[in-house]
Amino acid sequence: MVRYLVKLIMLNLVILTTIVSSDAHALDFQEWLTAQKKVSEEQILANISPKGTLAGTVIASPSRTNPDYYYHWIRDAALTMLAIQELGFGAPEALLKDFLNITKIHQDNSGNGNLGEPKYLVNGEPYTGPWGRPQNDGPALRAIVFANWATQLLNQNQLTFVKDNIYDGQWDSKSPLKRDLQYVAHHWQDLNFDLWEEVKGEHYFTLAVSRKALILGAEIAGRLNDRGAMSYYLGQAELIKNKILTFVRNKRLYATLNSVEGLTSKSSNRDVAVLLGLIHGDLQDGFLSFDNPIVNETLRDLQSSFNSLYIVNWSGPAGIAFGRYPEDVYYNGNPWFLTTLAQAEVLYKMAKAAALSAKPLKKVQSLFDQGDLVMKRVQFHVPSDLHLTEQFDKTSGFCLGATDLTWSYASFLTALHAREAALAALNK
Ligand code: NOJ
Ligand code: NOJ
Repeated sequence: MVRYLVKLIMLNLVILTTIVSSDAHALDFQEWLTAQKKVSEEQILANISPKGTLAGTVIASPSRTNPDYYYHWIRDAALTMLAIQELGFGAPEALLKDFLNITKIHQDNSGNGNLGEPKYLVNGEPYTGPWGRPQNDGPALRAIVFANWATQLLNQNQLTFVKDNIYDGQWDSKSPLKRDLQYVAHHWQDLNFDLWEEVKGEHYFTLAVSRKALILGAEIAGRLNDRGAMSYYLGQAELIKNKILTFVRNKRLYATLNSVEGLTSKSSNRDVAVLLGLIHGDLQDGFLSFDNPIVNETLRDLQSSFNSLYIVNWSGPAGIAFGRYPEDVYYNGNPWFLTTLAQAEVLYKMAKAAALSAKPLKKVQSLFDQGDLVMKRVQFHVPSDLHLTEQFDKTSGFCLGATDLTWSYASFLTALHAREAALAALNK
C-alpha cells in the first residue's frame, strides 16, 4: 500500500513537472540564452512596421483578440526603441528615423487629450475609446529615446540633422524631442494613469522616467544653446527628485501615492513597476543607485510576496516568478515574463554595482547567481519555439495572454545585456 502510494506520488510529480516545464528548459542554460537572444531580436523586428501598418508602428503584440494588443502603445514602443539603442541590433538608424516620423504624426494628432494619450491605431490615429488617460510615462520614455539619439548624432557632428529633426530649440516647438520635454516639464505634477493603465494618481515609475528625460533633455538643450529651456528642465528634474523621495516608506519604494481613480485593490503598494522605474530611470548619478539599501529592501519585499503567491514558485528553479503586483486580477493574476525579467535585470545591476564598489567577491557572485536563477525560472516556462507571451499561468506554468509580446522580448534583451555587464565587472 505504502509502495503503491509512493509510486502514485512519484507519477504525479512526473506529470506535474512535465506540465510546468517545457522543451526550452532541456537546453543548456548558455545555449538557451544565445538562442533566446536571436529569437527575441527577430520577433521585435517582426513587430515593427509589420505589413498593413504605418511605418514606425511598433505593435505591442500581433494578437488581435483576447487580448487585442494590435496597437502602438507609446510606452511599449519607446521601451522597444530603447532596447534597440542599447543592444544595437537591426538597423537602428533606419528604425529611429521611422520612429521619429510616426512620433510627429502622433504628436500632431493625439486625439482625446494631449501627449499623454497612451495608445494609437496602426494607421497612426489615436485610439478614442474609453481608456485610462492620460499616461504621462509615454512622452518621457520617448524623450529618452530621442535624447540618446541626439547625443549620439551630436557626437558625430550631425548638428544640422538634430536641429532640423529632433530638437530645434524654438519656443512652442514642433520638433519631437522638445515637444515631449515641454509636456513632461509642464505636466509631471498632474495626476495620471500608471503604466498598468489602472490607477490614476502619482507614480514612482512615471516620475523616475520623467526625471531622466528632463536631465538628458537639458543636456541636449545646453549643447544647442537653448539655455532657458536647459535650466527650466533641470529645475523641474530637481523638484521631481524631491517628490520621488516621498515614495520611500518603510525603507522601500512605494509605487503610487494619492490615487484618486481606478483600481483601489492595490493596498500593499508592492509593485514591480518600481523595479522598472529603477531600471529605466537610472542615470548612474548616485540617486537610488543599485547599491542603495532601499533597492535591496524593495526587491526582497517583492520576492517574499510573490514567492508564496504563485504555485509555480513551489517547484522548478529557485528563481521566483514575478507578476505585476500581488493584488493583480488581470487574467486571474499571473506571473509575467517582463516583470520576472526586470527582477533578473535588477539583480545583475546590483551585482555590477557591488563589484564596482569593491564589495567582497562572495557577495558579488551571489547577486549574479541569483540573477541567473531568475533567468532559469524564465527558461523553465518558455515553450520550445522560444516565443514569449505576456504571462504564464500561476498554477500550470503554461504561457498565456498576448502572444509575441514585444515588451517581453525587449525585457529579455536588456536583462541579458545587464548580465553581460555584470560578468565583465566581475571578471575585472
Ligand atoms: C488593459 C490594461 O492594459 C491592463 O493593464 C489592465 O490590467 C486591463 N486592461 C484591465 O484593466
Ligand atoms: C498591459 C500592460 O499593463 C501595459 O503596461 C501595456 O502597455 C499594455 N498591456 C500593452 O502591452
